[in-house]
Amino acid sequence: MTEVVVVGIGADGWDGLSPRARRAVEGADVLRGGARQLALVPDDVPAERVPWPAPMAPALAGLLEEHPGRRVVVLASGDPMLSGVGTSLVRLHGAGAVEVVPHPSSVTLACARLGWAVEETQVVSVVGRPVELVVPHATPGRRLLVLGSDGGTPAEVAALLTRLGYGASRLVALAQLGGPEERRSTGTAAGWPHGGTDPLVVTAVEVVADPGTVVLPTVPGLPDAAFEDDGQLTKREVRAVTLSRLAPVPGQLLWDVGGGAGSIGIEWMRTSPSCRAVAVEARADRVQRIRRNAVRLGVPGLEVVEGCAPEALAGLPAPDAVFVGGGATAQGLLEACWAALPVGGRLVANAVTVESEAVLATWFAGVGGNLVRLAVQRAEPVGGFTGWRSAMPVTIWSVTR
Ligand SMILES: C[S@@+](CC[C@H](N)C(=O)[O-])C[C@H]1O[C@@H](n2cnc3c(N)ncnc32)[C@H](O)[C@@H]1O
Repeated sequence: MTEVVVVGIGADGWDGLSPRARRAVEGADVLRGGARQLALVPDDVPAERVPWPAPMAPALAGLLEEHPGRRVVVLASGDPMLSGVGTSLVRLHGAGAVEVVPHPSSVTLACARLGWAVEETQVVSVVGRPVELVVPHATPGRRLLVLGSDGGTPAEVAALLTRLGYGASRLVALAQLGGPEERRSTGTAAGWPHGGTDPLVVTAVEVVADPGTVVLPTVPGLPDAAFEDDGQLTKREVRAVTLSRLAPVPGQLLWDVGGGAGSIGIEWMRTSPSCRAVAVEARADRVQRIRRNAVRLGVPGLEVVEGCAPEALAGLPAPDAVFVGGGATAQGLLEACWAALPVGGRLVANAVTVESEAVLATWFAGVGGNLVRLAVQRAEPVGGFTGWRSAMPVTIWSVTR
């Protein structure tokens, strides 16, 4: 049964509401919303207007109990289901309790103004989150719409793209979309001439690479030089094979045990914005390095736990896949990883020493899976000629539970 109606309202206010949306607002006993949205409703609408308190989260959770027996309408900005209060209310109370009356979103309006197809446009929300979330999407030719929480977002996006070697990208900051005060500011990322803009702003980006920029795809196997490391880095070719065995799936969680420079967890997360990872690393300096690499490569949400596995694994959320890049010989480590996996979960462990390889061979004999050995050679100058330099062979054990 519907218990609350969420009505989207744009910068064009009452004039822009559909007859259905107006009827809902006019028939409400209580209107909830931000001060800005409540002020858009004409004075002759009789409902009691109750602005959201700060913080808003407890009020959303208690909304259904707060106004017993009264018709409650929540006003939301634009489409309530795009980074909006509608999404929060459905999460809290279930889809059955919430009726949503949408309005065109800022994304729809921006695409209309720019002549962009919505389905070919990547939307990145940095509302209350680090601007580095844009990084995995910064590849030549892409069209991005960045949703931010204040007027500083266009300048932050411009500075980030310039640092990444995409200073030639074309930016359009679209403010107050759909309202009488709608306006736009344009420029390149490197030459962005505008400071802060109106806080109601969407930043549109056509990504253009500067000459010489190394493009980083979201497919695993980034160049080793993309990571800051102290030598403890799973090298590119081995990393690509390791990730293919881990088989990242959107929405899934990886434990990267023995995180080192964090490359496996980072590449897992770069495959999809909904992939999550926890890196467990014993050394404090490496923990800091993992955090720096994660931010730089656009996955600031990578969680890093400082501690020794298996003890440090206790209490972590259950994984869908586990990678063991270090510590395979530690007492009880593989047992703990195996026990944490659900049916269908993947375990991949890499070994470069005879001792750790022996542990993997024992597990392979016990539970099966695949044992693969990779010996990579890279061509390097030898005097005036070219010769093969061998990296240490890596044994990869992978198994599905
Ligand atoms: C070869 S590195 C992993 C490299 C990593 N996959 C990368 O590409 O960045 C192994 C790491 O495991 C860590 N380590 C070893 N034993 C561990 C344990 N029992 N718990 C947590 N970390 C451990 C080491 O400090 C080292 O940083």
